[in-house]
Amino acid sequence: MNNFDRDLICKYIPLDKQEEAFKKLESGYPVQYIIGNVDFCGNIIDVNENVLIPRFETEYLVENLLFYLRRYEYNNPKVLEVGTGSGCISIALAKEFNCSIDAIDISKKAIEVAMHNAKKNNTSINFICEDIAKYQTRHKYNVLVANPPYVALHEEVDPKTKYEPHNAIFAKEKGLYFYNIILDKARDLLTSKNIIAFEIGKDQAQKITDKALSIYPKANIIVRKDLNNFDRYLFIINE
Ligand SMILES: C[S@@+](CC[C@H](N)C(=O)[O-])C[C@H]1O[C@@H](n2cnc3c(N)ncnc32)[C@H](O)[C@@H]1O
Repeated sequence: MNNFDRDLICKYIPLDKQEEAFKKLESGYPVQYIIGNVDFCGNIIDVNENVLIPRFETEYLVENLLFYLRRYEYNNPKVLEVGTGSGCISIALAKEFNCSIDAIDISKKAIEVAMHNAKKNNTSINFICEDIAKYQTRHKYNVLVANPPYVALHEEVDPKTKYEPHNAIFAKEKGLYFYNIILDKARDLLTSKNIIAFEIGKDQAQKITDKALSIYPKANIIVRKDLNNFDRYLFIINE
């Protein structure tokens, strides 16, 4: 238990519930689930065990995407978010950029949390409970953003993640399943001018780049690092 987590409990949990909260914290239970929310890009996002706890590094995915949307002069784009979880990415985008957003997730319980969060943060997002592998649409999107599950099955992870939904973290094909599915569907889902913004695992940039170039040979592919200097974000830009 670190001092920062202790302070959060003292600040946000009523005195009569703090002893119980400290016990949970000591057992390794995430402080964010105890408190029930996190700050993501300045928005308060409620969380429970049905959704991944939004990570600090994902804020940088949103910031970078906003940068490219402005740089490539997108005007009221149609955005698809894949694997919305708590809704944090779509909510942050909707707050900062004039766009219309469809956000999909396979988990009904996650969609319920995301809908609650969108309302709480005064944003209008169209949530869809669907498996991305089966998702079909008649209208095409200009932008796709995803922080999909990307940890390979059986890979060792921080023990705290055992409280988060398994299908929010792990993916088959050595963690690459969702990038492969999304890229295989990209021509059906997206207009020819488009941006695809991915958060990725630290060893996945080359394989995702190869796959992206097999679909879009002329794409501009940009890989960016997180604060630990790991490749963490991959942008596929089709002008
Ligand atoms: C890594 S979490 C990301 C959550 C949130 N976007 C964030 O960045 O904090 C991935 C999400 O993908 C969803 N997911 C898993 N399999 C899926 C599928 N086949 N189709 C759509 N969403 C899926 C999970 O339910 C989970 O909410």
